[in-house]
Amino acid sequence: VVAQLTLDPAFTVAPVDRRLFGSFVEHMGRCVYTGIFEPGHPSADADGLRGDVLDLVRELGVTTIRYPGGNFVSNYRWEDGVGPRGDRPRRLDLAWRALESNAFGLNEFMRWSSLAGVEPMMAVNLGTRGIEAAAELVEYCNLTEGTAASDLRRKHGVAQPHDVRLWCLGNEMDGPWQIGSLTADEYGRLAARAGHAMRRVDPTIELVACGSSNSDMPTFAAWEATVLEHAYDQVDYISLHTYYDPEKHDEASFRASAVDLDGFIDNVVSTADYVRAKLRRQKRIKLSLDEWNVWYQSRFTEPEDRAIEDVPALIEDDYNGTDAVVVGNLLISMLRHADRLTVGAQAQLVNVIAPIRTRAGGEAWRQTIFHPFAHTARLARGTVLRPALTSPDMTTGRFGEVPSVDAVATHDEESGALTVFLVNRGTEPVPLSLDLRAFPQHRIREHLTLSAGRPELVNQAPQEEILLPPVSWHALCLTPEESK
Ligand code: AHR
Repeated sequence: VVAQLTLDPAFTVAPVDRRLFGSFVEHMGRCVYTGIFEPGHPSADADGLRGDVLDLVRELGVTTIRYPGGNFVSNYRWEDGVGPRGDRPRRLDLAWRALESNAFGLNEFMRWSSLAGVEPMMAVNLGTRGIEAAAELVEYCNLTEGTAASDLRRKHGVAQPHDVRLWCLGNEMDGPWQIGSLTADEYGRLAARAGHAMRRVDPTIELVACGSSNSDMPTFAAWEATVLEHAYDQVDYISLHTYYDPEKHDEASFRASAVDLDGFIDNVVSTADYVRAKLRRQKRIKLSLDEWNVWYQSRFTEPEDRAIEDVPALIEDDYNGTDAVVVGNLLISMLRHADRLTVGAQAQLVNVIAPIRTRAGGEAWRQTIFHPFAHTARLARGTVLRPALTSPDMTTGRFGEVPSVDAVATHDEESGALTVFLVNRGTEPVPLSLDLRAFPQHRIREHLTLSAGRPELVNQAPQEEILLPPVSWHALCLTPEESK
């Protein structure tokens, strides 16, 4: 059975928003300490920022980085991480039961972001703190001078404001594990009031309200509706978090995880639009998928069951080829929803369920999931196109029969570059027939592929006959033939 894919430049979804290719740096495990920051490492600069990791981050092509948490943010005092290092307190972080030295904080992160060439996305603590600390943080980051917080930043040696555009109003506030978790009404009110105050400091910032921690939460959808009923006018985005555990369901369902993500995104769009209708508003809320990845979550030890440690090695999952194909497919799902989903952050960037791993004092390396991310971020340019696709089906425990082949395309009108991102998530090889009638001049120039059976990235010789091996991810790069 053959899969048939037809592309037409008229079948557009939306422009590719570069913020889709974001990532996440949390003070968790070894993401910061011995991850991006390790004074004394042979590749580190005078500020302790690891050069080998920065090189890989640039190669990964991430655009936006969410910081400093995650669960960590809900008991964090941002003031602890600024000013002279010698004066910074050592605290017990309640999220991960780790000792936080505060050697790395806001200004170090901003310097690291500019070296990495990424846009910072800051989260404020709405767990143990509230409106005042959030507004003062915006003031510290975004005002030039003449107020207590902006002058404090200048005193800390940072004359220019950081000008942070994107702000998360807390993290997973529905989760019972969250320090200071709230009901939907409590959180919705707080998010609206904190957002209001933060916008009084800088009216140009964009705000993300917490959606449910995941779509399996018992309050999923009702949470989104209630929160948005309180905060619709103050916020621009609602967040989505989702992790796929290879060991939680049957293997076919794991390979088809993007089916779940498609449904999750559609349900959050519907819920946000329901509130829009109810409140009779014109504005549409956008989506921020600001935690997503493959995570072997069933192997996770709860913080209560661990001793307090300095820098514990937490959830350093090793990824295989199937995990990389799933990550590639999740990126396809994200692009397919580019009309409403415009911010993404893979969780996390280094060591903690991450595409990049490091050894303290040693090397840094790419995991399998690095490759589909790096190439999608590099190649997805211009406008997202929705292909017409027929595919053989595969059977899954969770979703029933689903297409084994999934695809999306992007078309860069300026350069003419057309890229087709494809997966075969089934266990049978599938020949693909590509119908390019609307792109008669285009030829395949490059065929990048990675599969469960061959988990390293391969740059194949381009061929007209395309065979998609079992459990494989592909990027087909096409450009128009030079006109004679
Ligand atoms: O990314 C790891 C953790 O997963 C984050 O801290 C939290 O927000 C989520 O539950």
